[in-house]
Amino acid sequence: MRFQGRAVVVTGAAHGIGRGIAEAYLAEGARVALWDLREDALKDAARVLDPAGRSTTVQPLDVRDARAVAAAMDAALAFAPECDTLVNAAGIYPSHPLLEMAEADWDAVLNTNLKGPLLVTQALCRRLVAQGRGGSVVNISSGAANSARPGAAHYATSKAGLNMLTRAMALELAPHGIRVNAVSPGYVEVNSPFNPLSQAYKDAISTGIPLGRAGRPDDIARTVLFLTGPDSEWITGSIISVDGGSGAGRSQLPLSRPE
Ligand SMILES: NC(=O)c1ccc[n+]([C@@H]2O[C@H](COP(=O)([O-])OP(=O)(O)OC[C@H]3O[C@@H](n4cnc5c(N)ncnc54)[C@H](O)[C@@H]3O)[C@@H](O)[C@H]2O)c1
Repeated sequence: MRFQGRAVVVTGAAHGIGRGIAEAYLAEGARVALWDLREDALKDAARVLDPAGRSTTVQPLDVRDARAVAAAMDAALAFAPECDTLVNAAGIYPSHPLLEMAEADWDAVLNTNLKGPLLVTQALCRRLVAQGRGGSVVNISSGAANSARPGAAHYATSKAGLNMLTRAMALELAPHGIRVNAVSPGYVEVNSPFNPLSQAYKDAISTGIPLGRAGRPDDIARTVLFLTGPDSEWITGSIISVDGGSGAGRSQLPLSRPE
């Protein structure tokens, strides 16, 4: 029970990696504010993760909406005044080839994946700083920040921006005792109805993982809990890859020495 007495806001908590992170915090004794755009999925997740309903509060909202975020933060802190931790996991990764990409496609991805974490972090940290309390933020980035792929110019750009936003926020918030880090997952199998992927893409990305399997939400959650716990008290502004080795290099290449 490493997080007994702590409370956390997790965005994107209805499904996939965010839901796995919320589950890991609850298992370690934290209270969790579950935030997501999809109200029905969020309520279903809360029923499964916290059947007694005592350790969670549910906030359906769009992280792109600054007013909704501020109101939800007030509600989260009313539920759990001890809350000093935030995980920005809400995200979208649609596929749009560059020349077919509409302005609205670009805006949706950048606003969800980059502006959303800014707004939610501001909402929590303004309150922490006003109260003179420290805290911890983790942004869920992606290996796509460093490695572009077709159809994902908006997504890769949003995550590269999120990595820099993580560093910039870490510098400005360090004097207030607030740490900001990112976890950069490789391919994590979540079968999301909200972020559908083709079978061809899943097959191709799964075969190139050096450690031989796709990730699971709890692979990411364990690193997030480390980054928001006492064992990482001197870590801020870091981007930690959790990707089965995918970002290490091109493992599918043969040896270069002549036969
Ligand atoms: N699954 C992967 O392979 C992978 C790899 C690298 C990074 N990521 C990142 O992990 C995060 C979680 O992705 P996932 O794969 O678990 O997807 P998912 O679809 O299972 O979960 C994402 C959640 O975010 C919510 N969401 C989307 N837009 C929102 C908004 N505007 N406001 C509030 N909630 C919103 C969705 O409703 C959904 O529940 C994303 O940031 C994604 O970019 C995923």
